[in-house]
Amino acid sequence: MVVEVRQLRDATDAIVARLSVLVGQLSESAPPLTRDRLVEVLRCPCNTVLGARLDGELVGMLTLVVFPLPTGLRAWIEDVVVDEAARGHGIATALTREAVRIAHEGGVRSVDLTSRPSRVAANRLYESLGFELRDSRVYRARRVGQPTP
Ligand SMILES: CC(C)(COP(=O)(O)OP(=O)(O)OC[C@H]1O[C@@H](n2cnc3c(N)ncnc32)[C@H](O)[C@@H]1OP(=O)(O)O)[C@@H](O)C(=O)NCCC(=O)NCCS
Repeated sequence: MVVEVRQLRDATDAIVARLSVLVGQLSESAPPLTRDRLVEVLRCPCNTVLGARLDGELVGMLTLVVFPLPTGLRAWIEDVVVDEAARGHGIATALTREAVRIAHEGGVRSVDLTSRPSRVAANRLYESLGFELRDSRVYRARRVGQPTP
């Protein structure tokens, strides 16, 4: 069993098809992944999209976002998912380790991420890799600037 983690750079039909499956396993509400959307994601200079292959098949993904702020260079990890059929083989561990390595190599001050408590495997994964729970609230505005209904 060979696991390879590499940066994804091209929105080929095969990659779009595999990532679409992964997006479906990550979020029921996310819109279907189109080629145009993936091109946009891959071209965004803040993004590094990592793909994990198990014996050649693309089975996992992670997006690292590195962005400069007045307080310093920061990073977020987003959209981590491993195909249901390939879980439990250390693939998310390999993806996350590589993302943290790239972020630190780039000189970031911090790498943040969020994960709902119900995502038991994900929370164990991040804690096992040394991520510490912060005492901070996560807010979201779905309709920015509009009064809450
Ligand atoms: C979370 C997820 C990415 C883990 O992927 P994975 O490749 O199976 O994870 P790994 O094999 O690298 O496991 C790493 C650690 O996660 C934890 N873990 C993995 N699967 C678990 C499970 N079913 N139950 C509890 N903990 C689990 C363990 O601590 C494990 O370390 P260990 O094997 O040394 O015990 C995968 O389960 C997934 O895609 N889930 C759905 C999407 C999701 O929740 N994404 C995260 C969004 S924040």
